[in-house]
Amino acid sequence: MANNPWIKITTPLPGPKARAVLAQDRKYVSPSYSRPYPLVADRAAGIVVTDVDGNTFLDFAAGIAVCSTGHCHPQIVKVIQEQAARLIHLSGTDFYYPQLSTLAQKLAEIAPGQGDKKVYFGNSGTEAVEAALKLARYATGRKKFIAFYGAFHGRTLGALSLTASKPVQRRGFGPLLDGITHVPYPYCYRCAEKPLQGGCDPRCVRVIEDQLFRTILSPDEVAAIVFEPIQGEGGYIVPPAEFFEELKRLSRQHAILLIADEVQSGMGRTGKMFAVEHFGIEPDIIAIAKGIASGLPLGAIVARAELMSWPPGSHASTFGGNPISCAAALETIRLLEDGLMQNAAETGEHLLRSLQAMMSRCAAIGDVRGRGLMIGIELVKDRATKEKAGDWRDLAVQRCFERGLLILGCGENSLRLMPPLIVSRTQADAALEILEEVLTAIPGT
Ligand SMILES: Cc1ncc(COP(=O)(O)O)c(C=O)c1O
Repeated sequence: MANNPWIKITTPLPGPKARAVLAQDRKYVSPSYSRPYPLVADRAAGIVVTDVDGNTFLDFAAGIAVCSTGHCHPQIVKVIQEQAARLIHLSGTDFYYPQLSTLAQKLAEIAPGQGDKKVYFGNSGTEAVEAALKLARYATGRKKFIAFYGAFHGRTLGALSLTASKPVQRRGFGPLLDGITHVPYPYCYRCAEKPLQGGCDPRCVRVIEDQLFRTILSPDEVAAIVFEPIQGEGGYIVPPAEFFEELKRLSRQHAILLIADEVQSGMGRTGKMFAVEHFGIEPDIIAIAKGIASGLPLGAIVARAELMSWPPGSHASTFGGNPISCAAALETIRLLEDGLMQNAAETGEHLLRSLQAMMSRCAAIGDVRGRGLMIGIELVKDRATKEKAGDWRDLAVQRCFERGLLILGCGENSLRLMPPLIVSRTQADAALEILEEVLTAIPGT
């Protein structure tokens, strides 16, 4: 890595200062967190994270797809500082301030769909999903939901009831919300159907109509179908266009609302403001969080205005849409529109094509997929059998860390790349070099 100016590893990992923090953390912090490697951060700027021992890392995880504008972008820091000196908190549920209504207007304008829209603010992804569930029930008078295997929608009890990603996330926490049925998410790489010549026979997308509605669930009881346009925690899985056509048809035919969970895929990450825009679908409700405010806590739902008819007092949050998060979000959106979204599309395309080319040199890569800077790399033991290489994936994450590249896993056996949207082509190439070194060395270890 002689030519890599971003990475400098000068101590064993974890270093001595990091080890002290890890010991303190072990003693006092909830053991429910799942840290894949012992990165102990001190500070970060742009795409580089510096740990407490002075080691520097190239960040392709962005605080789990949150730091969209890069770490501590000077403009974001400036608006946060200015807003903190002016007004930190008042509670938008009881009073007014312009940052909240201005951000609501902006989100209503940039969310797909021509009609009027309204916005509700919380503090996180799970709260956004929770709000979407409550609004869907309130607006339709129906109680049931359809969600997908592999989905991750959050960990509060309502959102957790939709989540179907890992048993550990649910085990011991039931009973969960009644009336949620999960169906398979279209997963082209592991398609169980035999593809027709020259295309796919998307029987997988018809499972709701062909099986569910004919056996156990009446469509007129379903308030909404909740979906990730690109499944995140489940493995960065991109569904075929037919999936979205089917969702639209079901929604029209049975008056079922469509709730798009864009918590991970939204805010420019895929090269468009919202991932649904790649697929020509206009959801009734969109859930947003993560990348919206460059790292400050904020969640939101944007819904068609006529749906958001719930009365005063029916739903609110003390901290939701606090002035500093709203100011940071407005500046984040300005930066996204001012070139970062375009960069996500272009640099993402470069990464995707380079990784596809890497497949000829790395037998462990079974599939590469994604949009923009939301890229999944699925590892397999054998391309013919597609045997899942979860242990190789875990090893790859670890080895990337040891070489100064921060990435995370997703699904059972995939890696995900989700760098800040400021990532340059040379930084992308530096990450590719490390990935290739790690992935070619993995089989046989
Ligand atoms: C698609 C999706 N929805 C919801 C959530 C929950 O967000 P939060 O952790 O902010 O509650 C996540 C988090 O990873 C997510 O990826």
